[in-house]
Amino acid sequence: MKLILFGAPGSGKGTQAIMLSKEYNIKAVSVGDILRENVKKETKLGSEAKKYMEKGLLVPDEIVARLIKKSIENGDFVLDGYPRNENQAKTLKNILTENGDDIEAFIYLEIGEEAMVNRLSKRRVCKFCGKNYHLKNMPPKRDNICDECGGELIQRRDDTPEVIKKRWEIFKNESQPVLNFYEKHNKMIKVDGRKDKDKVFEEVKAKLQ
Ligand code: AP5
Repeated sequence: MKLILFGAPGSGKGTQAIMLSKEYNIKAVSVGDILRENVKKETKLGSEAKKYMEKGLLVPDEIVARLIKKSIENGDFVLDGYPRNENQAKTLKNILTENGDDIEAFIYLEIGEEAMVNRLSKRRVCKFCGKNYHLKNMPPKRDNICDECGGELIQRRDDTPEVIKKRWEIFKNESQPVLNFYEKHNKMIKVDGRKDKDKVFEEVKAKLQ
């Protein structure tokens, strides 16, 4: 099964990607995570991507296209964070068509600006394993400590009010052509992303059947 998760910053793409990957035994591919890993390791790609990510801007299409091609070469996947504009949607379609493949569904998690700000300003991530928490909705058992690995929880550098605002603007500007693209190809599944994460998950699964 090949799936795409789409939605505004904080809509729950990363959270649902992990759940879907376990449920269907498919690889979760997060472009944001791959980019952050490159920034952390100070690779050439990472230092280029950092300049955009810190400002909440999209990293240039040709950079992310290379990453995606490598990450989805073999087998099934749930893709979190790609495509984000029409050009990326076309690139993905071409990559898959070359292999005689296509996606099963494009899952759109719908949330508004208020929910986004609330989620991102209270999000914490483990410095070591990357597990996601929310101070109110999904708090860790011990303050600032990851339940999984005991690592320290930190705030993402792009979760500051100014950068959150920019990320929302970019989403508003770029999302409609992507939505049109997948609506035209009859692949769209829409889910109210404001619901509890388990409810969202159940709804996605039901709509996939
Ligand atoms: P990326 O890391 O993908 O950031 P994003 O799209 O802004 O999305 P987030 O990771 O912030 O949110 P999410 O939707 O995954 O929600 P999450 O599950 O974490 O990308 C970062 C940057 O990389 C971009 O700004 C760009 O610069 C670059 N980039 C990435 N892809 C690119 C591309 N294709 N092209 C160019 N550049 C690219 O949940 C958020 C919070 O809410 C968490 O605290 C979580 O615990 C909580 N939560 C989740 N679900 C629920 C729920 N149902 N109810 C209550 N709380 C919930």
